[in-house]
Amino acid sequence: MTLNSLSTKHHKTAPLPFTGQKRMFLRHFEKILKDNIPNDGEGFTVLDVFGGSGLLAHNAKRILPKATVIYNDFDGYVERLAHIPTTNRLRQELFEILKGEPRSVKLSSTAKAKVLGHLRKSADNGTFVDVQTLAGWLLFSGRQVGSLDEFLAESTFYNRIVKTDYPNADGYLDGLILECLDFEKLLQKYQDTPNCLLLLDPPYLCTAQGAYAKHGYFGMTKFLRLMQFVRPPFIFFSSTKSELMDYMAYVQRYEPNTWQRVGDFTHIKVNSSINAKVSYEDNILAKF
Ligand SMILES: C[S@@+](CC[C@H](N)C(=O)[O-])C[C@H]1O[C@@H](n2cnc3c(N)ncnc32)[C@H](O)[C@@H]1O
Repeated sequence: MTLNSLSTKHHKTAPLPFTGQKRMFLRHFEKILKDNIPNDGEGFTVLDVFGGSGLLAHNAKRILPKATVIYNDFDGYVERLAHIPTTNRLRQELFEILKGEPRSVKLSSTAKAKVLGHLRKSADNGTFVDVQTLAGWLLFSGRQVGSLDEFLAESTFYNRIVKTDYPNADGYLDGLILECLDFEKLLQKYQDTPNCLLLLDPPYLCTAQGAYAKHGYFGMTKFLRLMQFVRPPFIFFSSTKSELMDYMAYVQRYEPNTWQRVGDFTHIKVNSSINAKVSYEDNILAKF
């Protein structure tokens, strides 16, 4: 892949819905990369350990075109992207089924039966069903499921189906190296790579993680295991809900050796709002 063959489309949001994507952070992310990594990233590797939608990896490659950028697709998002045409077709079929139904309210039992029947038939015929996208169309706002079985077992559905197709994501993965590994195996694999920037955006502790495939709850022990690998250069994303800042304060006080490795970072606070009444603070910690 040559630099010129990177597609010109620069995505500022993930092509398909993805819970926890870092679109609100991209402005800060770009500044941190540009301020700290010279020469378009030549000689650098960027390791997007918790790649999710790949939005950070995609942007890293656009900002630092000469860097080697690795996208750890632990959730199978690449497969979802490859099936955008199928997902669009399913959207059109369901849209047609729900044509006479009022929008944003609970589905009647007849409409629900038609929708579920259509989904079962599609899955039985071998059609790829993107359940994360489906959840956004048919479940209560923010409700997440990890599999089609979980989806079909839901009791209440809504008509929230989007009115337009998703554009294709051609070029989104251009220039990226794909991996699909548990974070510990991935970090072991790349631990001797020189100039390797760690992008760390793990699932937030103490929050619902049901949307993530193969989730196996990311809890305290996994977090502590992750911290064993953290060393500069790194960019760590977190929310106040995850207690990362409290953990760092603890490390500063009680674990001087660890603090030497991970402390004295630059701290950027980002305020995100869920709706007009609820907002929370996110954090980016960067150390080079
Ligand atoms: C907050 S999301 C990352 C979002 C991503 N930065 C984006 O912009 O789309 C956390 C990701 O970590 C993944 N994950 C969970 N457990 C993991 C594990 N053991 N190893 C690697 N990734 C894991 C989740 O599936 C999810 O994709």
